[in-house]
Amino acid sequence: MAYRCEKADAMRIHMDYNNMMAENIGKNGICEDELAKMAEKSAECIYAMEKKRGSMKWRDLPYDRCETVERIKKTAEYVRENFESFVVLGIGGSALGPIAVQQALNHMRYNELPREKRSGPKIYIEDNVDPERMESLLDIINPETAMFNVITKSGSTSETMSQLMIITSYLRRELGAAYSKHIIATTDEHKGNLIKIAKQEGYETFFVPDGVGGRFSELCPVGLLPAAVCGIDIDALLDGAKYMDGICSERNIYANPAYMSAALEVCAMEKGCNISVMMPYADSLKYMADWYAQLWAESLGKRVNNAGEEVRCGQTPVKALGVTDQHSQVQLYTEGPFDKTLTFLAVENFRAHVEIPHAFDDIPDVAFLSGHTLNELINSERRATEYAVTKSGHMNKTIILPEVNAFTLGQLICLLELQTAFAGELLSINAFDQPGVEEGKNATYALLGRPGYDDKRRELISAGEKTARYII
Ligand code: PA5
Repeated sequence: MAYRCEKADAMRIHMDYNNMMAENIGKNGICEDELAKMAEKSAECIYAMEKKRGSMKWRDLPYDRCETVERIKKTAEYVRENFESFVVLGIGGSALGPIAVQQALNHMRYNELPREKRSGPKIYIEDNVDPERMESLLDIINPETAMFNVITKSGSTSETMSQLMIITSYLRRELGAAYSKHIIATTDEHKGNLIKIAKQEGYETFFVPDGVGGRFSELCPVGLLPAAVCGIDIDALLDGAKYMDGICSERNIYANPAYMSAALEVCAMEKGCNISVMMPYADSLKYMADWYAQLWAESLGKRVNNAGEEVRCGQTPVKALGVTDQHSQVQLYTEGPFDKTLTFLAVENFRAHVEIPHAFDDIPDVAFLSGHTLNELINSERRATEYAVTKSGHMNKTIILPEVNAFTLGQLICLLELQTAFAGELLSINAFDQPGVEEGKNATYALLGRPGYDDKRRELISAGEKTARYII
């Protein structure tokens, strides 16, 4: 295992929630006694979470790794040795995790590096069905040296199945019967159409275990295979998640960052904060905000609670990037309405060190920058934004990563997954279903004529035509 004891503790990520508290930000913040009440309520939820642990299989992923992880590594090695590009076909939870992990742990310009400087083939994660995007992919891919990983837990999502059909017919045309050796399927072992197709066509397969929903699947073959193909240390990723799961098994909310973070956000929701902004101050973590947006929105955006009462709960996630969005969104976060919380992601040590050299010493208003580094600049700007947001009375917290590596990223994934599950428990909703997404999927099937969806099609038609006078 990559990380043990002191090394792990030195790489522990922390959450600083000072600026969620009224003591530090004034009347819009959370008071100690409100938090104490939340802690009391949490005790019951923590107990409920522990009782449900058996059904939350995604929590076991960092522990039960043996066979699958070994096979992932072997397949990854084969792909690295034999292919020039690796293309993921998938959407939602089947793409956002892989995108976030690639961005965080690969070289920033990974695909542009020459082969000898890359730890694997070029990687493309195709999570949309824009025809221009698909056509442009086919323009640059060499079918002889491309491996495709089609990922869909349900095995029926229209977007992913359409991509698979396009790629299958393209590869059949270019490679003949040997095409099936260019597709790896990641799906449910028993349900859905992809498993049937995979068996029929002879694709190599990996499975999304039962009890692991799309948005909680990054640490199973969904995320691990694309990561391993690029040479990412998947053991360290899983070690990080396991380490954080240990920390977050603590029943005392004051020592448990996932529970505390969930409790703070739920408290904030009760105060009318319906928006949750995630703002990483590191390009490497940019797509963690996208991944989190799905996790938070799809898990907590629910019409009814567990008792079937209409609650319409959830917080709208907003993705921002520091420092870029200081120049677009931060005006709103300081002077706008008190309807949001911010979560900054801070990195203490970057993997590069760039000095700002002396260049215009005769212009003091520019010269003051020389002798500093971009590392100092980005972190000073984060502190400055935190200060401005706090001064304006907006609740914010910071998750601090000592550096971005597989171990800290594994921790972050686990922390945010547990935070989400716990928030669901506090809100008494089912954080693991997505009836709203299913409704859209079913409507698409109906519009495109999938058998068995005639009633849905009639329902859509009876919704009527758009009123022309409202289209200008
Ligand atoms: O979290 C979820 O369950 C969804 O967002 C799914 O990940 C998404 O709809 C894609 O589903 P599938 O992997 O079944 O194609």
